[in-house]
Amino acid sequence: MATTIKVTAGDATEFDTPALVVNLFQGVTHPGGGTGAVDRMLGGAISQLIADGEIKGKMGELTLIHTIERIPTRRVVVAGLGKSGDFDTGAVRRVSGDVARFLRRKGVGEYATIAHGAGIGGLNAAESAQAIAEGTLLGLYKFDTYRSNGNGGEDAGGPDGEVQTVTIVERDASTVNDLTAGVSVGTVLAESTMLARDLVNHPANVMTPTKMAETAQQVAEEVGLELDVMDRDRMREHGMGAFLGVAQGSEEPPKLIVMSYRGDPDNPENNLGLVGKGITFDTGGISLKPAANMEAMKGDMAGGASVIAAMRAIGSLKPRINVTGLIAATENMPGGRAQRPGDVVTAMNGKTIEVINTDAEGRLVLADTLCYARSLGITRLVDVATLTGAIVVTLGKACTGMMGNSSKLAKDLDAAGERSGERFWELPMLEDYRELIRSDVADMKNTGGRQAGSITAAMLLREFAEDADWVHLDIAGTSTASSNKGHLVKGATGVPTRTLAQLAINLADGK
Ligand code: BES
Ligand code: MN
Ligand code: ZN
Repeated sequence: MATTIKVTAGDATEFDTPALVVNLFQGVTHPGGGTGAVDRMLGGAISQLIADGEIKGKMGELTLIHTIERIPTRRVVVAGLGKSGDFDTGAVRRVSGDVARFLRRKGVGEYATIAHGAGIGGLNAAESAQAIAEGTLLGLYKFDTYRSNGNGGEDAGGPDGEVQTVTIVERDASTVNDLTAGVSVGTVLAESTMLARDLVNHPANVMTPTKMAETAQQVAEEVGLELDVMDRDRMREHGMGAFLGVAQGSEEPPKLIVMSYRGDPDNPENNLGLVGKGITFDTGGISLKPAANMEAMKGDMAGGASVIAAMRAIGSLKPRINVTGLIAATENMPGGRAQRPGDVVTAMNGKTIEVINTDAEGRLVLADTLCYARSLGITRLVDVATLTGAIVVTLGKACTGMMGNSSKLAKDLDAAGERSGERFWELPMLEDYRELIRSDVADMKNTGGRQAGSITAAMLLREFAEDADWVHLDIAGTSTASSNKGHLVKGATGVPTRTLAQLAINLADGK
């Protein structure tokens, strides 16, 4: 059962619910707004706890107060918002996710909340509500498809283990429409992100390229997109030797999935292409990976998953722009027909690549997919890939690595990330790095050695984006989370689904 976020006009202190969430900025001694109203009804209990130093308003702090029937709600949660100077929609997402898991653990199946930051916090109502919806739904995300007892593990709670309803209660009836609009956008973005998480969390024996194509088909039907799925034969006709070189070691049929949304059919130049790496399992191929943590390579299709998910969000939110999602789906296996180190492959644009290491497979499948996107007339491209271990060394899990040939498009991604709370950091694409992938026998080689591993991967991709405006996002670090925090839960994050959708919206609005 999914969680529903509702909006209601009324007085929070009069709302009959198992729990009511209010908030407090750090350093505030006499709370105002909804928190102040609840404090007065509770005979100053919140102010007293502040005076006693038990509530500080720090980010992440949650205090549960039982109301012993002074107000209709049985419990009040005071959520710390941190310093008011640091406050933004990211803080709302964080608090909403933490609160949702906290109350689920307490067995609360429904609760109400005031709109964090919509008043004194300086956020507009729609943004606040969107962040509450995203934080709550994403923070409650669980992946228990493969638990045979159907229970969700240690922090399941509520009558049947789930939070069914969260209601945003707003005094001012005139802002209810804005809050409702924000909830509806946030719900679409959260549900799409959860689709991406599901695709990544499924094991590779289930989430094959064929299964990814079936999911894309369902999404296309759900939100009304055109779909084209290319098989091995059609890829051969197009001369996609780099993609097929990777796929030839696997018995699983590869798929190049193409999803098209036409939001501005009269203006084909108003376009955006989203290209995702969809390696459904990366063994490394003949350059086999070590056994330790190899199971994590079921998530090597996270870029492709985020593209399918973003296309769902874009198809639902309908911005005025043409968006094409292209997902390069195959396994990378060391089969008897697998490609060998030293093999030379020719991509769709005629450029040749010497395969030094078969584990640098992502750039090979993306090379042909970028070429194909160009052949469809797409002039603005963003690719998303769990491409290099090096990016995890460079940036860790705090932000996604960004590289490209267009500072304008990089700025657009930064701006979209500012809204979504997903962060990007640009690395330099200096010409000096190009020589690291110079080959003795072909136009380039697929690895550049130990130096600047994320950038040399991007240098190879650049050869196939050619003269399109292009940005590459390396999500090897950010595609998974190692613990629960705010809207993130351990496992797949669904990054950068929400940013890609926001980018399409911003570009459509000419922002
Ligand atoms: N899928 C991996 C990159 C990766 C590493 C993703 C860790 C998520 C977590 C990619 O295909 C790969 O194997 N890259 C190699 C490239 C090297 C052979 C040049 C790497 O990063 O080691
Ligand atoms: Mn690899
Ligand atoms: Zn890979």
